[in-house]
Amino acid sequence: MGREEFVNIYGGIYEQSPWVAEQAWDREGNPPSARLAALFESCVNDSTREQKLALIRAHPDLAGRAAIAGELTKESSEEQRSASLDQCTEVEFKCFQLLNSHYKEKFGFPFVMAVRNSSRREILEVFKRRLENNPQSEFNLAIDEIHKIARMRLFSL
Ligand code: GUN
Repeated sequence: MGREEFVNIYGGIYEQSPWVAEQAWDREGNPPSARLAALFESCVNDSTREQKLALIRAHPDLAGRAAIAGELTKESSEEQRSASLDQCTEVEFKCFQLLNSHYKEKFGFPFVMAVRNSSRREILEVFKRRLENNPQSEFNLAIDEIHKIARMRLFSL
């Protein structure tokens, strides 16, 4: 396949960040599929702090405005649905809104967690716990979670 097709297929593995697939192609051409996850990861890990921050910020809030408005990417929508975030009770929904805004105020980026197959209760517990972290460890955790999300997206292609 060519670069355009490669980026069409893999451009959504990292949320709204096709530059990861573009860089992967530019580094290694048409890599074998067994190598893709590791290659994408190293492209992200080798990027600047600003690029990593933009990558984290490309993620929509969990059970947030974009989710309600039906404006999520196909991948994010599937992940949020698999964690039944589209079925929040009114109280859970309010909890998410409150946590989302506290988290962004404290860290300057949205809370990212690989939520596929987690329950709403588990997600809310992790969310509250992670709000207590310091900014550097939360930045690193967000990138780790983004790699987990990417691996799951890759496997479900
Ligand atoms: N975890 C899995 N997908 C997503 C997403 O789109 N946004 C956030 N914040 N976390 C996720």
